[in-house]
Amino acid sequence: MGKIILTGDRPTGRLHLGHYVGSLRRRVELQNSGEYDKIFIMIADGQALTDNADNPEKIRQNIIEVALDYLSAGLDPEKSTIFIQSQIPELCELTFYYMNLVTVARLQRNPTVKSEIQMRGFSEAGEDENSNKKGMPAGFFTYPISQASDITAFRATTVPAGEDQQPMVEQTREIVHKFNAIYGETLVTPEILLPENSVCGRLPGTDGKAKMSKSLGNCIYLSDTPKEVKKKVNSMFTDPGHLQIEDPGKVEGNVVFTYLEAFSKPEHFGLFLPEYKNLDEMKAHYRRGGLGDGTCKKFLYNVLEATLQPIRERRHEYEQRIPEVYEILKKGSEAARLVAAQTLHDVKEAMKINYFDDPELIAEHTKKFMNR
Ligand code: TRP
Repeated sequence: MGKIILTGDRPTGRLHLGHYVGSLRRRVELQNSGEYDKIFIMIADGQALTDNADNPEKIRQNIIEVALDYLSAGLDPEKSTIFIQSQIPELCELTFYYMNLVTVARLQRNPTVKSEIQMRGFSEAGEDENSNKKGMPAGFFTYPISQASDITAFRATTVPAGEDQQPMVEQTREIVHKFNAIYGETLVTPEILLPENSVCGRLPGTDGKAKMSKSLGNCIYLSDTPKEVKKKVNSMFTDPGHLQIEDPGKVEGNVVFTYLEAFSKPEHFGLFLPEYKNLDEMKAHYRRGGLGDGTCKKFLYNVLEATLQPIRERRHEYEQRIPEVYEILKKGSEAARLVAAQTLHDVKEAMKINYFDDPELIAEHTKKFMNR
């Protein structure tokens, strides 16, 4: 059996540098490595709706944004199947059956769901009329099961994703083991493929907060203009104790250096900051004192632009061909659906709920009732 990738994103906004270093860049590398037989990239609109029921328009507007970000970052529809989750009804049917293999208590223990309940301010007790907390939608609570359907429908061996998705993949593995134990070997057990290092796994926001996040307003988007990038880099959090250029500076917790860690390549020094051979030399000088934040930020801007400029150019090209982008998504969804339908067929066969395709069942019952 070959190796198959499935991964995706919720279309709740444009993709930012955190998405890029955390997963998108890796996906493009995996795609171009030729090591995988199939790559499925899913725009998880159904999952996005589990806590956006009151705002489907947000999701509707952002599907194309995410698709444009994918294509401009280098995902190639000839090599990767890009599709929209809601267009694959088989995923719901799988979820319907997997629901019976997962307890409510197990869902309550899912660490990602737990922290999202906190973040969203959902009342854990469900409908809670005495507090101003919103009740938690059942669809939100059970989305890990739906995510297990996403992963297993495509027989994914590999799910490239961030640390926060580990509990989802773990929950999927449990469902697979339970299903296979009860109904016979049918589903493939997936493995998560985590980002190369901790910097890439969780890129901090430009303000130094732990995570780049739309709601915190500390993101650099793949589609930002050079002007926006420059402004955001110039306002970045550095070392508050580094007041004079001559003062020794800290690189730990200094966002400029964290970003350089994630984005700079040795060749960038030759191109933009030939005083140093590599990041280690630059860091040493900053620590010693004598290297100003302005110089570091200017270098970071150039480094980021080396990545962002080609992405921005490709995005601009695709933006002039929107009907074609929708056609890519439609074709991708059709191809994805065929694969999911085959898995659903196998699942129903394993569960023996394919009654009309089961001549043995009909023969058995013919016999059973014959001489009554
Ligand atoms: N949960 C993922 C996110 O928060 C999106 C997603 C949905 C996903 N289904 C998936 C990721 C399957 C990997 C595999 O962005």
